[in-house]
Amino acid sequence: MGRQRILSGVQPTGNLHLGNYFGAIRNWVEIQSQYDNYYCVVDLHAITVPHNPATLAQDTYAIAALYLACGIDLQYSTIFVQSHVSAHSELAWLLNCITPLNWLEDMIQFKEKRIKQGESVGMGLLDYPVLMAADILLYQADKVPVGEDQKQHLELTRDIVDRFNHQFGKGKKVIKSPEPMIRKDGARVMSLTDGTRKMSKSDPSELSRINILDSADEITKKIKKCKTDPIAGLTFDDSERPECHNLLTIYMLLSGKTKDEVTAECGDMRWGDFKKLLTETAINSLQPIQEKYAEVIAEKGYLDEILREGRQKAAEIANQTLEDVKVAMGYSLPM
Ligand code: TYM
Repeated sequence: MGRQRILSGVQPTGNLHLGNYFGAIRNWVEIQSQYDNYYCVVDLHAITVPHNPATLAQDTYAIAALYLACGIDLQYSTIFVQSHVSAHSELAWLLNCITPLNWLEDMIQFKEKRIKQGESVGMGLLDYPVLMAADILLYQADKVPVGEDQKQHLELTRDIVDRFNHQFGKGKKVIKSPEPMIRKDGARVMSLTDGTRKMSKSDPSELSRINILDSADEITKKIKKCKTDPIAGLTFDDSERPECHNLLTIYMLLSGKTKDEVTAECGDMRWGDFKKLLTETAINSLQPIQEKYAEVIAEKGYLDEILREGRQKAAEIANQTLEDVKVAMGYSLPM
């Protein structure tokens, strides 16, 4: 039996932060040698909220370069850009027509994001999860490694699969139901300025997140200003101390230490000493990624080549699934 297939992606909106890294990319890197992996830069999702056309292409390249810099290895993984494979948009349309509107209206992320968009909220934002389902289903992915916030979108994807196969499969599974892969630690990294809110690219405050490409000065400043509490000693898992839990978790993930090791090392520390330790650890562990990123992004030709090859490999699989779906739905294929 061949390897199971993985698909996941990140939007090219703004900088990648530690939430994206620990919730998604770091896990992709750790498991990649055991799977057949497809990692896309989801640039069609990036336009579901107002975007800047002047930077979209550049941001898309930057995310692809970051995948490589974080350790995605082309021996095991294929990297491509979502908009380069037109089957994504086409399958999204077909799935739109079998997805009940109220399923989409129930999505938490839609409800949260629509508030920010007010009157001008676009159809694309509502439809975001159907396009995400198309991304996954085109590759017949077995597993989808994501952060906790994407769990509901994956449940919706599975519901769409059941509905499609039931309506059109004639007893066969035309499309495969994917399983979410959500790790316990790092699945929900919280904001530096409020330990009860998710670290997010769309938070207006830069101080709320550490980006993978932040300079040493920026990291120092952000950790210096981050929210703490007035209680002596540092502990995980105290629901009254969300910031303490979050900062210890970030330290644990950056340092690669276990929870017990971190508790033993930091339990009696004062905030000032801990912040120093966290700052040093963050700077040192992000530095190799930043150096690799600088190398990759400087070689545009190399990146172009990788994305061209990725597109070819991805399109081959995606077009086959699209054809199967269309035939199941009763379309005739062009001769
Ligand atoms: P995006 O770009 O918003 O997020 C990319 C990945 O980062 C995870 N993530 C977090 N994990 C932990 N803590 C956080 N604070 C945090 N913030 C973000 C997200 O869960 C995600 O795994 N809808 C997807 C993009 C997508 C996709 C797909 C993913 C489009 N098609 C197909 C998988 C499969 C998203 O959230 O992008």
